[in-house]
Amino acid sequence: MPIVGDVGQTEWAHDLAKELLETALPRRWAHTQGVAARAKSLAPILGEKADTLTAAAYLHDIGYAPNLVDTGFHPLDGARYLRDVHQADGTLCRLVAHHSCAVNEARERSLFDALTAEFDEERPELVEALTYCDMTTGPDGTHLDVTQRLGEIHSRYGPEHLVSRSITASTPCILAAVRAIEGKLAGEG
Ligand SMILES: [Fe+2]
Repeated sequence: MPIVGDVGQTEWAHDLAKELLETALPRRWAHTQGVAARAKSLAPILGEKADTLTAAAYLHDIGYAPNLVDTGFHPLDGARYLRDVHQADGTLCRLVAHHSCAVNEARERSLFDALTAEFDEERPELVEALTYCDMTTGPDGTHLDVTQRLGEIHSRYGPEHLVSRSITASTPCILAAVRAIEGKLAGEG
């Protein structure tokens, strides 16, 4: 990753995600931009770490890009691509690998050992913040409350799908993260 500094990192992440998603997966790019906007809005509680979070928000779903898909588990495919192709910052790789309580879907896909062996968890305040941003942004990038977002995922995939089972397993983790960030935002207000 050639550019140093958190602001440069955010621009780099934006440009990379745009290149990978905008044409191939325009709706995923719209979602990604919405998640990044949510991340920027957390500056009052995260300070300068909001730039790191915003970079991670841009990159969190790049594992869906068709030319990156390997295992089919997008957090792991995205994190490996960042690590191996771009030698990206470890914090970004870890945040992408574990975004939105990904360990539960990793279990469903028999990729738990690979995910946790290759990528440690990041510090909770950033992990929770990225989960909050992702889980309060709909597929088209507009704001949804977390209950609507969970419902939207269930209806998009249907009850039998592995993603729906994973989201059910992740719901306590997702709700705890959203509540934690909402509590911090309320404390600021
Ligand atoms: Fe994702």
